[in-house]
Amino acid sequence: MAIKTPLKWVGSKARLMPRLRPHLPEGKRLVEPFAGSCAVMMNTEYEEYLIADVNPDLINLYQQIKEKPEAVIHHLGNMFLLKNTKAGYLNAREIFNAGQLYPLERAVFFLFLNRHCFNGLCRYNRNGLFNVPYGKYVNPYFPVTEIRAFAQKAQRATFVTAGYMQTLAMVRAGDVVYCDPPYLTESSNFTAYHGGGFTHLDHGKLARKLRKLAGEGVSVIASNSDIDTVHLLYAGFDLVRINAPRSVGAAATSQKTAAELIIKAPAGEGKAVVNV
Ligand SMILES: C[S@@+](CC[C@H](N)C(=O)[O-])C[C@H]1O[C@@H](n2cnc3c(N)ncnc32)[C@H](O)[C@@H]1O
Repeated sequence: MAIKTPLKWVGSKARLMPRLRPHLPEGKRLVEPFAGSCAVMMNTEYEEYLIADVNPDLINLYQQIKEKPEAVIHHLGNMFLLKNTKAGYLNAREIFNAGQLYPLERAVFFLFLNRHCFNGLCRYNRNGLFNVPYGKYVNPYFPVTEIRAFAQKAQRATFVTAGYMQTLAMVRAGDVVYCDPPYLTESSNFTAYHGGGFTHLDHGKLARKLRKLAGEGVSVIASNSDIDTVHLLYAGFDLVRINAPRSVGAAATSQKTAAELIIKAPAGEGKAVVNV
């Protein structure tokens, strides 16, 4: 069974870990430029982790849990008791968006909002304000076990707020790199996670950089949707098709699973990856 994470997360790899894990090679350090909920860190056993994401709220939460798990649990417990009403939630969201909180408080508010907002979505408007509506959960889950487990694992991790190119520039020989970007779709030009979006151009840049790293002997694994453009971008990599459970978008209404790819270029086989 997969170990759960403190955050609810759209696109979490938690349920997919039994199928993804066998494709993650051994190595000393796992580098994750698109960390999201850290489901991959929580379900693997590398000696070290470099955990990065462009969303500073995620990284601040992880740093606070690493340093002060019991303080996070204490303050979060108070918020769970006092604020599970629409008015309480909107008040917490307003305080969070005012941007005056200390890092520990901001982490607690972020986790509270995640557990009480609609579907655990993480969305910000153009001004960077968190704008997900109240989720109306009668009994939202209080992730105390998950926070403690995360704090333990986090002792092996370095957390950085960074765009993927900045993180990939920190990769060293012997690292294993796992990339789980917002997926490419045929129809939409970007998926808005934090501020801007992840464009087709980003997907091209990411694929080129991963091809280069693989050529230098770094073990590279990525996930993406099973569509023609992805096959083209990663021509020459090993592509493994899997059916993944889906909880958002068209797949949620029309079908329960969507085909996606595990994209692999094991270290040492980098030279076999053709340059396109
Ligand atoms: C699909 S989620 C990753 C899910 C993760 N594997 C998990 O199991 O929870 C994609 C993540 O990429 C991050 N992201 C989006 N654009 C990015 C960028 N340009 N650089 C780094 N991270 C980015 C988002 O904030 C989001 O957390």
